[in-house]
Amino acid sequence: MPGCALRHLDDQARRAWAAQQHRATLSRLAGVDDAVPHAVVAPTPRDGYRARAVARALPSEAGLVLGLGARFGAPPVALAECPVQAAATRTLLAQVQGALRARGVTPFDPTTETGTLRHVVVEAAGPSRRLVLVTATPTRALDDLIGPADDLGVFVDVVPPGRFDTLRRPRHVSGPRAADFVVGADRLEATLPAWLPQAPASLAAVRAGVLELLAPRADEGVLELGCGVGTLSLALARRAATVVGVDVERAAVLDAARNAAAAGVGNASFRVGRADHAVRRLLAGGQRADVVVVHAMRKPYGAEVMRPLLAFSPRVVVYVAPSPAGLARDLAAAPWLRADRLIFVDQIPGTGGLLTLARLVPA
Ligand SMILES: C[S@@+](CC[C@H](N)C(=O)[O-])C[C@H]1O[C@@H](n2cnc3c(N)ncnc32)[C@H](O)[C@@H]1O
Repeated sequence: MPGCALRHLDDQARRAWAAQQHRATLSRLAGVDDAVPHAVVAPTPRDGYRARAVARALPSEAGLVLGLGARFGAPPVALAECPVQAAATRTLLAQVQGALRARGVTPFDPTTETGTLRHVVVEAAGPSRRLVLVTATPTRALDDLIGPADDLGVFVDVVPPGRFDTLRRPRHVSGPRAADFVVGADRLEATLPAWLPQAPASLAAVRAGVLELLAPRADEGVLELGCGVGTLSLALARRAATVVGVDVERAAVLDAARNAAAAGVGNASFRVGRADHAVRRLLAGGQRADVVVVHAMRKPYGAEVMRPLLAFSPRVVVYVAPSPAGLARDLAAAPWLRADRLIFVDQIPGTGGLLTLARLVPA
């Protein structure tokens, strides 16, 4: 189950083991010296931290279960009962599961291609929650499953048989279009398909780690690739002269601009675009980037992004990496950079995954 594969281990021992694994990957794939100083921070509580749930619709003796698949003949695990999920996520899952049972909605069976509901996506990271009901064929029959509520955005999506996407093009049904989350004094909104953090309790530590490694000066310009809805941008803008955030997701960029305005941050601007295109355009336009933040998904950004960054002559690049292999590949594509400090954030306890914050300086 996501978030609990290694829950049986002592947390401290698991973190030390995971950090060792991450350092070994960085050493093997990018030659990062084992002597590079590292720290591990653990901001996320062991239980109740996961704000997002992707729960499959599964059959059980008790009726439809929103959970994870049965393995080795065991019954499905209801995510409404999973201690890793945040309390608000569990409550919403239980409410939706009850409503689905009361309606007699059937789980989609990929073998026979019968049944209605494939999975639900529930996000309850902050005051506004979000529910997406994902069916196998178009239907309006679930639009009124959960009564309209001011704090709950409801969407219905269709993932046809033979496709395995989590979401495709969710249709808004009721409630707010954006879900939100809180970091420090900032309340940030995220509109689908903008990226929404899974473990909001860890975000203040991620911000603090990035600021510590980057140490932006008051006269410096920051370039942030993968700015999302501005989670890091707002904190960076308060310390630096300017921030230019880039994200490929238009919805995220619109959210980032709105979130900055709501936070009274006036020295951050945001652009929609692929990072490689944006970097080329910014260089051509004479944009300065004294310091750079690269926030990746699991996939590396690639040499087309990492190589041209050299032309900005940045003092420091901080790379935020959910995958050490992705970071290693990007670092190997930029031999002009070397890692000189690492912070590992234990963002999703109970697993071997750590968020790596790497300070990269000119080699
Ligand atoms: C892990 S999210 C982090 C978002 C934000 N920094 C935060 O902390 O909330 C990474 C972001 O990178 C964006 N992204 C991924 N690949 C990209 C690319 N090639 N060009 C531009 N943005 C990209 C995604 O859309 C996503 O918003």
